[in-house]
Amino acid sequence: MSAVVVVEKLCKNFGAVVAVRDVSLAIAPGQIYGLLGPNGAGKTTTLRCVATLTQPDSGRVEVAGTSDPRLIRERIGYVAQEVALDKVLTGRELLQFQAGLYHIPGPKQKERITQVLALLNLEEYADRRTGTYSGGLKKRLDLAAGLLHQPQVLILDEPTVGLDIQTRLAVWSFLRQIRQEGITVLITSHYLEEIDALADRVAIIDRGQVIAEGSPEELKSQVGGDRITVRIREFAEREEAEQSLTVLKNLPMVRSGLINSAQGNAINLVVDNASQGVSAIQECLAVAQIPLFSFSLSRPSLDDVFLAATGLTLLDADLAEAEQRR
Ligand SMILES: Nc1ncnc2c1ncn2[C@@H]1O[C@H](COP(=O)(O)OP(=O)(O)OP(=O)(O)O)[C@@H](O)[C@H]1O
Ligand SMILES: [Mg+2]
Repeated sequence: MSAVVVVEKLCKNFGAVVAVRDVSLAIAPGQIYGLLGPNGAGKTTTLRCVATLTQPDSGRVEVAGTSDPRLIRERIGYVAQEVALDKVLTGRELLQFQAGLYHIPGPKQKERITQVLALLNLEEYADRRTGTYSGGLKKRLDLAAGLLHQPQVLILDEPTVGLDIQTRLAVWSFLRQIRQEGITVLITSHYLEEIDALADRVAIIDRGQVIAEGSPEELKSQVGGDRITVRIREFAEREEAEQSLTVLKNLPMVRSGLINSAQGNAINLVVDNASQGVSAIQECLAVAQIPLFSFSLSRPSLDDVFLAATGLTLLDADLAEAEQRR
């Protein structure tokens, strides 16, 4: 089936900052497609280019067979990362205002507003001022607004950031529901478990470039290996802890090891076979008299995919980006 969203060699700079570099995507209809990456990776800029809100320096965007910005806007719903709601209006009034912006004809407006309010379980709040809404309610109203004109493609920039777990799960189930109705969803997140749980396909993006693309399962199985996280007791000196952990890295069955830079007293090891790995690690710690605190085993995650491609975890990449901003 031909793609409903096509992005070809998209590039966008802001002055000296390269925000997006040669990004190409092809999204099949009816999929939830995830863009995963750390802060500043270029996710929002990519989405804004697809939504025709930002003009790319070069490259091409096509949505549902057209590259005409006016037609693209008719076919998409866009929910921005940060939305400033007018606090004085009620939810319903806000939707009426949006319906006007989308040129939904008068008689149809009421019907659509009733439908989207029901879809997002917002009926009982519709006539309250949005200033009194919780974060979760606001997000549901944003989603409702994005769906008013029955778009073919719903574009969501970090739709669950700052939401509690329950509300986040409600948003996930809502997105699965609209996928069933044939709406294509393009979503960004830097919560890897969110993309893992929701997305049919994912593009992992770092410093403006796509560094891996595929279904979450494909990407994780390509990375392979078992993960063992070893945590030792705190040492007075961080260097001492790191030095102790380095001996584990040099064990023959260890493919790679990365000291957890946030805490310094844990190391993430990749081994071919977890059971062999565990006994060798225990032996090594006993010989070196290093006090073990905890052990955990896991299968590869999307974070491991990111790590394999960039040498950093997503969290470390976020920290590095924050550092750079200072
Ligand atoms: N309007 C702008 N003017 C200048 N620089 C910008 C602008 N918009 C984005 N950038 C820069 O472009 C890069 C990519 O930003 P973008 O917002 O697309 O990243 P992101 O992946 O959405 O990040 P986050 O996870 O923090 O939302 C960053 O370095 C950012 O500072
Ligand atoms: Mg963003």
